Amino acid sequence: MRIFLLLNVFALALAGCGGSSGSNTPADSGGGGFFGGGGSSGNTAPTISVANPDQMAAIGHDFTYDASQGGTTFTDAQGDTMSYTVTFSPDNGEFAATGPTISGRANGIGDVTVTISASDGSAESAADSFVISSDFDQDAVQAVFGASIDLSALSDYETRTTPDHIRAPNTVSNPVTNAGATLGRVLFYDPALSIDDSVSCSSCHQQQNAFSDPAVVSTGVAGGVTGRHSMRLINTQWSDELAFFWDERAVDLEDQVTDPIRDHNEHGFSGQNGRPTFDDLIVKLEGVDYYEELFAFTFGTPEITEARMQSALAQFVNSIVSFDSRFDEGRAQVTDPFAPFPNFTFDENQGKLLYMSGPEDNGAGCRRCHAGPEFSVFEDSRHIGVIGVAGNPAGADFTVTRSPSLRDVFKPDGTPNGPFMHDGSMATMREVIDHYDAIPVPTDPAIQMEFMDTIDPQLVEFGAVEQLNLTDVEKGQVVAFLRTLSGQSVYTDPKWSDPF
Ligand code: HEC
Ligand code: HEC
Repeated sequence: MRIFLLLNVFALALAGCGGSSGSNTPADSGGGGFFGGGGSSGNTAPTISVANPDQMAAIGHDFTYDASQGGTTFTDAQGDTMSYTVTFSPDNGEFAATGPTISGRANGIGDVTVTISASDGSAESAADSFVISSDFDQDAVQAVFGASIDLSALSDYETRTTPDHIRAPNTVSNPVTNAGATLGRVLFYDPALSIDDSVSCSSCHQQQNAFSDPAVVSTGVAGGVTGRHSMRLINTQWSDELAFFWDERAVDLEDQVTDPIRDHNEHGFSGQNGRPTFDDLIVKLEGVDYYEELFAFTFGTPEITEARMQSALAQFVNSIVSFDSRFDEGRAQVTDPFAPFPNFTFDENQGKLLYMSGPEDNGAGCRRCHAGPEFSVFEDSRHIGVIGVAGNPAGADFTVTRSPSLRDVFKPDGTPNGPFMHDGSMATMREVIDHYDAIPVPTDPAIQMEFMDTIDPQLVEFGAVEQLNLTDVEKGQVVAFLRTLSGQSVYTDPKWSDPF
């Protein structure tokens, strides 16, 4: 640096002596001369002719930029060949330079000041500085989602406030993040995830129905139907039973969420009967601009993989919580959950007591398997005598051992989020209570034997299926209590709604 300054002073002094305006005359130029090797007394430093404009680097995308702008950034009056050095401040390792060419990939929002120095052969140099600002490129996201998704002001999915009486959520290796759940929301609502752009997760998991479907079985691609009733997606991270699906065949939520995409009848990427495969879906999504941006935004690079889709979808599903019910309000006002809740009617409090008490105390015994305050299902429960197969009166299904949380079995307006059970065979809650009150045992001897062998042992007493003998009034009271378990915000919060 000191040499550079001294030479510059020297050059200026020479120019002053010559009385010229400082520009080189042909006689001055031409190298050689006094200092030899280009250190001519007439040599001048390169000058900036076209300053570099500031640059934008899209986070997660490859960035390259020629800071010499094809050799036009600097001019050297003598036409000396220039060599370039590039420095970064701060030098956070995101960018590097080969000659004047900068390349790299930004990982986060921020500015890096780049200084490019051009030096001629005689150690004279000039420098130009500009800024690379790294930010998310959200043009394609904005173009499709407008105001409903703003990557610089994401909806809050991470803060899932629960009342004090609610346990901590199950630990998952994939915690809910605002970016992940935002991508998950787009995937959840996107019909591009089906083979004919007709079906999304939300076709069968509808917000206004607590993320279930009022149809007994749901319709997927090309008129295909599901084998079972769709399940409400409420408080999935607050469950005693960690496996998913009615028969618990998915070991965890991440494992579950791409199964519907591979399902022949649901999203259709089954690879069967000439249908495309999951890999074909990934290729398809790679052609969608907003996914390039959203995956880069969420994961740092635009690559789309099944594991990333699972992570994002599971985060969105796990973000769906419902803890703003009248039950929660009442529970917060008492220390003993068995005590009457001040905000409940007499019937609701009676229903609560019946729900919580076992048959030995003339209760309905629901708490044995759907214990509050979460109302998820007991992890070791087995089937409860509902063995129907939707659409097949002759079929028998003994494998159903999971239920969604009993929160939000009713909408806030009191209409049921049914039909209920894996086969959607019960349209009303009264039918559900009637079932538990007197569980029907199949008469066909072969089916009867398997039925008794596989039914939940809690429902069997002295070799026979238990009878609750609830009165009409008591049944109504249990239903009244179940109505208090519904939240409000889950049906209306825009962060869980269709962003398209
Ligand atoms: C065509 C209708 C349909 C589509 C589309 C669909 N589902 Fe489902 N979903 C169902 C049905 C039916 C079940 C129950 C199936 C079973 O247990 O055999 C279910 C079960 C689930 C469960 C298990 C809930 C629990 O508590 O065990 C989750 C989670 C889920 N779906 C998420 C999704 C996601 C995410 C998508 C989109 C990738 C999706 N579903 C697409 C119908 C559908
Ligand atoms: C022995 C364990 C057990 C007991 C006791 C029990 N349940 Fe269940 N419950 C289950 C299982 C398992 C399912 C899923 C059954 C199916 O779909 O075949 C279920 C399903 C349900 C459903 C349907 C959920 C849906 O999303 O469709 C409702 C409602 C319900 N139970 C309410 C009750 C009530 C009310 C009581 C008390 C009268 C009760 N349960 C007692 C285990 C139990």
